Amino acid sequence: MACFIVFEGGDGSGKSTQARSLLRRLRRRGIKVLRTREPGGTPLGQSLRLLLKSGEPMAPMSELMLFEAARAQLVQQVIRPFLDQGGVVIADRFTSSTMAYQGYGRGLDRELIERLNREATGGLEPDLTVLLDLPVETALGRKGSGKSGGNGDTFDDAPVDFHRKIRRGYSALAASDPDGWLVLDGQRPPEELSREIWAKVQTIL
Ligand code: TYD
Repeated sequence: MACFIVFEGGDGSGKSTQARSLLRRLRRRGIKVLRTREPGGTPLGQSLRLLLKSGEPMAPMSELMLFEAARAQLVQQVIRPFLDQGGVVIADRFTSSTMAYQGYGRGLDRELIERLNREATGGLEPDLTVLLDLPVETALGRKGSGKSGGNGDTFDDAPVDFHRKIRRGYSALAASDPDGWLVLDGQRPPEELSREIWAKVQTIL
């Protein structure tokens, strides 16, 4: 019953909380499940993550290539083999993050990103993408208060307008594939969101 579920959303949208909660529900039922995060998830991905978060000034194109490099490694080394063994993979971020951040946010060519996404993943697509959507101000406020003023996240210091573009990007992506996306209001209580996500995942499993 291989199944690939991706959580997407802006910084501070509550993705990790929901991914953890889904992981617990699946584990409790004895389902073979693995959680990954991007960038990261492999030794190479971890090194690329450090580079991306180093604060080193980076051309948007370099940034794009590093995210794609981390993804190619993660898919080949971890995600694909696990799915091939019939497991469920829960990913914090995947190809749509690149489209939202580097495409809609940075303004890089979206056709190029689509192509790179396809090549890096060998065409692997999620069975479900869960989007946690909430107003940019609310999300950034959460980060500020929850993580004592920024933890070195790549886009912590980006202007609010950049985060707005990302939110619009995600909405456009979800609207173009309503069957593949579950869009939820990230301001709702976490337990309620978790139940709704679980109900949807059960229909897929
Ligand atoms: P992270 O600390 O993992 O943030 P989060 O908990 O919100 O996932 O940092 C990842 C950052 O990298 C996040 O700001 C989103 C960004 N990102 C991209 O710009 N492009 C990508 O393709 C990916 C996967 C992430």
